[in-house]
Amino acid sequence: MSTRLAGSDASSDPRPKVTVAAFRDKRRRGEPIAVLTAYDYPTAHALDAAGVDAILVGDSLAMVVLGHPDTLSVTMNEMLHHARAVSRGATTPLLIGDMPFMSYQADVAEAVRNAGRFLQEAGMNAVKLEGGRSVAPAVKAIVQAGIPVQGHLGLTPQSLNQLGGWRVQGRTAEAARALLEDALTLEDSGCFSIVLESVPARLAAYITERLEVPTIGIGAGPGTSGQVLVTHDLLGLYDRFTPRFAKRYADLGQAMATAFAAFRADVVAGLFPGPEHAYNLPTEEWEAFLASLGEELPVTAASR
Ligand code: KIV
Repeated sequence: MSTRLAGSDASSDPRPKVTVAAFRDKRRRGEPIAVLTAYDYPTAHALDAAGVDAILVGDSLAMVVLGHPDTLSVTMNEMLHHARAVSRGATTPLLIGDMPFMSYQADVAEAVRNAGRFLQEAGMNAVKLEGGRSVAPAVKAIVQAGIPVQGHLGLTPQSLNQLGGWRVQGRTAEAARALLEDALTLEDSGCFSIVLESVPARLAAYITERLEVPTIGIGAGPGTSGQVLVTHDLLGLYDRFTPRFAKRYADLGQAMATAFAAFRADVVAGLFPGPEHAYNLPTEEWEAFLASLGEELPVTAASR
């Protein structure tokens, strides 16, 4: 068994590891790229089995798993902790670690070191960071260190305070132009792919046409090279807010609530655990145990 397959039941899986080159090839062939987020081992395992091209360990972790109101407070160490779990669960998809707020903005050398930690300590294959021309020096330096970088433009949640809320971006001619220029700069700086979030569909399609690298859309219409969703939105697991663009494929939040209530009701009614959930102690051992304590053997159904 190759190391790539160790630790998973993917040994019967003939799919080759998805690389950034595979991303580019898909873009060239016009094949859509499917990306979802994961923050833990079982989700990563299920996404691998479903055949997604890439798993993003997004800083959306802050909101959908850790319960923060936005993505600003999640730390490098928290991101690495969850990224490690994901890399234990998935072998085939490209694994992308999302660089959290203030892990790359202040200093280029620090950005390179933090990007490196995602590969060295958490088994990621690439990193993602938010922003356009202002982060180009960091992108270039990280790429020069041999680390693939995915850009992220449009609604960039780490700039929420500057953007003034969760708003669609690029809605004026000037803003659309700025987005295009940011995308071209990120491509020139070496990004292998760019996420476009909450951008009008025709602008996202136009930017995609102008780029050679694939764009991955979220709330950016059908004209991007691929699509990404936050898995908790897709599964109905995040109750606070579901963006209009998020399609819900399951209601696991409701399924969980129903299962938890059924468990509680069984416990209260004495229906759980049943005999099939309990372990047996052989009668002779039980009797020897009681005898060792000098206790009388009770004549009960359990001792017969
Ligand atoms: O953090 C995240 O999940 C993301 C996606 C929304 C692209 O950045």
